[in-house]
This record gives sequence, C-alpha cells and structure tokens, in this order.
Amino acid sequence: MLKNDLLLRVARGEETERTPVWMMRQAGRILPEYRAVRSSLSGFKELVETPELAAEVTIQPVDLLGVDAAIIFSDILVIPEAMGLSYEMIEQKGPFFPKTINSESDIKKLHIAERSDLNYVVEAIKITKRELNDRVPLIGFAGAPWTIFTYMTEGQGSKVFAKPRKFLYTNPTFSHTLLDMITQSTIEYLKWQIEAGADIIQIFDSWAGILGPEQYKEFGVKYIAKICDAIQEVPIIVFAKGAWFARKELSELNCEVVGLDWNMDPVESRKIIGDQKVLQGNLDPCVLYGSFEEIRKSTKYMLNQFGKTKHIANLGHGVYPDTDPEKVKCFIDAVKEYS
Ligand code: CP3
Repeated sequence: MLKNDLLLRVARGEETERTPVWMMRQAGRILPEYRAVRSSLSGFKELVETPELAAEVTIQPVDLLGVDAAIIFSDILVIPEAMGLSYEMIEQKGPFFPKTINSESDIKKLHIAERSDLNYVVEAIKITKRELNDRVPLIGFAGAPWTIFTYMTEGQGSKVFAKPRKFLYTNPTFSHTLLDMITQSTIEYLKWQIEAGADIIQIFDSWAGILGPEQYKEFGVKYIAKICDAIQEVPIIVFAKGAWFARKELSELNCEVVGLDWNMDPVESRKIIGDQKVLQGNLDPCVLYGSFEEIRKSTKYMLNQFGKTKHIANLGHGVYPDTDPEKVKCFIDAVKEYS
C-alpha cells in the first residue's frame, strides 16, 4: 500500500483531501544534487543506463522538493535507440542522431524494441520502487509516436521540424509505417515499465503543436489512441504540448488524464474536454522566475481556475534548468497549503 496515493486516487476520478502536485522534468535539470551525480559520469546517457544512479536521481525530488510522485529518470529517446537508431546527448545542446530515417529502406533496418534493449529502464524502475518504499507513486513514461518520429527523421531538435512535416505530405505511407513501428515498440515498452512497478504512465507529445488539426488527427492522436487502448493496467496521462486545437479529440481518448500547457485556459479547456477527464497542469514555468509572493499568487489563481477536484497540479511544460529550487519548493508548498 502506498503511503501517499493522492495522484492515483485523483487520476481514477476520486475526490481527495487536497490536489496532488509533481513537475514535468523534475528529475535532473534543477537540483545541485543531480548535477553532483551527473558530473561523476561520462554524460547523460551513462546516467540513464546505470539503474542504481537513475533510481537515485529519480528519488531526489521526492526527498528534496516534497512532490507527490516520482517520475523515472530516463528519456523519450531510448525508444529510437532500442529500435536500432542510436542517439548522442550533446552537452549544452541536446540530442543528436548521427543517422536519420529517410526512406522505406532505412525503416527496414529498424526493429520493434525488445525487452533486452530496454532492460536498464526496467531495472531502474525496480530499484526505484524498492527504494521509494511506497512513499509516493512512480510515473513511467514514453514519447508519443509523432514526437519520436520528429527526432528519428530530423535527427535533432528544431524550431519548425520541416523535414518530419514534409514526409507527412510527400510520403504518407512511409510516415504511417514508421509511426506504426514506434507505436508497437512503445506499447511493449510501457507494459514492461508497468510490470516492473510503474503505477501510472505519462505520454509526452512535445511537438504536437507544430501540426495542423487534420494532420494531428491522422498522424498524432490516432497513434496515441492505439497506445491508450492497449494499456488497461494503470491510469494514463496524455500531455500533447501546443495541441489546443485537438482538445476535443484528446477528450475522447481511452485515458484518465489530459495534460494542459500554459497556453490553454483551464476553464475553457474543461468546457471542451468535459467532466469525465482529470486535467493536469498548467502553470507557466516562467512564473518560477518571479518573486515568492508572485509564485504563491499565480499558483492560487491557477488552482482556483481548475477547481478542487479532478485536477493534478503541474507546470505547463518541464521546469526550466536554471530555476531556483527554493522557488520550485514555494510552488509545491503553495499547492499543498491550498484548501
Ligand atoms: O521528468 C523527468 O524529470 C524525468 C526525466 C526526463 C528526461 N527527459 C531527462 C532529461 C523526461 C520525462 C524526459 C522527456 C523528454 N526528453 C522529452 C519530453 C518532455 C519535454 O520536455 O517536452 C523530450 C522532448 C526529450 C528529448 C530531450 N532530452 C531533449 C530535447 C534534451 C535536451 C534539453 C534538456 O532537456 O535539457 C534532453 C536531455 C535531458 N533529458 C536532460 C534530462 C535531465 C538534460 C541532460 C543533462 O543532464 O545534461
């Protein structure tokens, strides 16, 4: 039995004594304690691939910030790697794929992820569950197929991702074949995470917002729906950044929670999405650069907008790396004190 299962109870639609809170990208990035572990290694990937250390940095925010959930320290890019397309994490820059997928013949060189390709994540989850000792739930995660597709074709971050978007027009068959392989790999991967102990799953569609509504239905939501339909074991949170135009479609998914970014108005979103789903979000991460007083005020305003039930407090996207951990704590505490 979990000692603090607020997040799970709210995700299942139950009324609780207070709103649960966690932060996207809470593991790593902001804590000096994370950087201390990280600097003793060759880089980000070694940390992701060393289960004992991945577990340690997963638990740090629970101990140091008081969040109501842990999220396993890993990356969405472990899926392309498991499918045969490896990535590098370049210091101060971000991910880089030495090879990209450009044609049907490139797809033939890929394979559906196998458990042995991702054993390090499974092990990290098992160790984390043991060391968390039932204090809070553990969130497992994966990237949504569309976002993984953008990295596999573009090979790195981009402002406009013209290459992946071009493929949707010039070669829809190729696009669907690759999206389908990513989807199959992701379903297997999430099931392994759940078997290892993940209590709830979040799907990150970080680049949802670069597609138009029709294309997002066909190349984005459709594949998220396949994942949601395949996972019945635990609740699912779907976070599609920038997909304000697809809130209706997201509300029809077989998931429990819909994540909102800070561009989406909570009251308007509730109207569009309806009463069934739990909503998660959505404080602008930049609020945490403001004064303590401003943080408390903005957090309270956000909580009032969502209301006391069917809400998981979070930022509208990942916490920014140069945020002061004391400001983060102020946000967490403001949620906990709200009643
Ligand atoms: O939420 C958590 O704290 C768990 C860990 C986590 C990481 N990446 C660790 C990480 C999660 C959930 C992710 C997801 C992820 N990774 C996404 C989706 C969420 C989002 O922000 O939209 C995306 C798009 C990626 C791909 C990625 N990984 C990028 C673009 C970068 C470089 C920029 C950055 O975030 O710093 C990464 C690297 C990365 N992933 C770091 C961490 C802690 C920083 C690497 C370091 O320590 O040097």
